[in-house]
Amino acid sequence: MPDHSDVGRRRQRAIFVAGVGGYRPAVPVAWSALEQAAEAAMTPEAWAYVAGGAGREATMKANCAAFDRWAIVPRVLCDVETRELSIELFGRRLPSPLLLCPIGVLEMAHREADLAVARAAAALGVPYIFSNQASVPMETCAAAMDQAPRWFQLYWSRSNELVASLVKRAEACGCEAIVLTLDTTMLGWRPRDLDLGSLPFLKGQGIAQYTSDPVFRALLAQPLPPEAGAQPPLNPSAVATALAQKANFPGGLFENLASAEPRAAVQRFLATYSRPSLQWDDLKFLRQHTRLPILLKGVLHPDDARKAVELGIDGLVVSNHGGRQMDGEIAALDALPAVAEAVHDRIPVLFDSGIRGGADVFKALALGATAVCLGRPYVYGLALAGRRGVEEVISNVLAELDLTLGLAGVTSVGGIERQALARSGAS
Ligand SMILES: Cc1cc2nc3c(=O)[nH]c(=O)nc-3n(C[C@H](O)[C@H](O)[C@H](O)COP(=O)(O)O)c2cc1C
Repeated sequence: MPDHSDVGRRRQRAIFVAGVGGYRPAVPVAWSALEQAAEAAMTPEAWAYVAGGAGREATMKANCAAFDRWAIVPRVLCDVETRELSIELFGRRLPSPLLLCPIGVLEMAHREADLAVARAAAALGVPYIFSNQASVPMETCAAAMDQAPRWFQLYWSRSNELVASLVKRAEACGCEAIVLTLDTTMLGWRPRDLDLGSLPFLKGQGIAQYTSDPVFRALLAQPLPPEAGAQPPLNPSAVATALAQKANFPGGLFENLASAEPRAAVQRFLATYSRPSLQWDDLKFLRQHTRLPILLKGVLHPDDARKAVELGIDGLVVSNHGGRQMDGEIAALDALPAVAEAVHDRIPVLFDSGIRGGADVFKALALGATAVCLGRPYVYGLALAGRRGVEEVISNVLAELDLTLGLAGVTSVGGIERQALARSGAS
């Protein structure tokens, strides 16, 4: 397990010593500078997809603003010479309470996509939750991670056979938990993507877990529902999309030039990927098909949290998908205390949506999270410098967490208490 002891001071030292030699971090440390640099490095379509949210993006903004309404009240004279960031989760000791969110279509940010993230996560011992919408099949990422921890995030499609197949593959490639995302029964209303008329899946991007799946491949031979075959106008842009579909399908552009499968795969994906009719009773099917811990992602209501515990679910992720699904939804941090109280330490409660730095991690833990997941920030690191960029962003978050812990007068993650926070005057 990588050693993150004293990571705060070690990281500061490394950056400042390099600074003496005239070097500045290639990946900005300050959040707003990181955002700006990532935007400059990405195409308008990629930026819209990653940075955008639902509707007026009020929830997306509220996710971060919710952190400003809490203030850390430090204690002094606590001997914080050594600090412990590690935690235990589902029987495994992790070097820190940080995981990486499942994020789809990473090829929009960097050509190495999920593979670069897998390598960075493994180097730092931070569990990586493979996305169901990944650009690289889970087996390829797992093979690059040795024994490092990884989980799999599942979207429950219209095909139970496909669900079972994805879960089986996740188990076979060493995933240690299944995260079932519940807030995306339909794609949210995302004006930035709509204004560009851009949905990456139509180019065959972000569907690698499907095109590498034997059950999905078998589905390609079956007739599609009539609306799935809607034809775009024939013009250069549509031809470019058709070529992209072929290039993104296993085998690559030239092998697929004459094949109808790449287009069929996109259409089949669109017809299959989500199941709005999903309900509590369906969870039994998942339980029957895996021995791995099951976490529900997107739980914001304490009654849903209680119900999940009653049904034997192993963990929750309090999340609103980074404000990408429903505008006007409660900020994830505002939902956390009530969910944590309802769960009452019976199962782990993870948190995402709005984590931008180590102080945010501290606040989420103080409000009842067992661990937190980092989302957009690592994608920005990826866009700027591939694997190294992801490593830098993670290291910066861990460094700030370590320093925040010490400066707050706390010596271990387990020692972060609710009393460390007060309501802030910030609006
Ligand atoms: C570009 C993008 C793609 C995402 N793809 C997925 C996904 O495939 N599956 C999933 O469960 N969540 C997905 N999410 C949501 C993240 O897992 C996480 O909930 C969100 O990024 C947290 O918000 P934050 O990044 O603003 O902190 C995605 C988020 C972004 C920004």
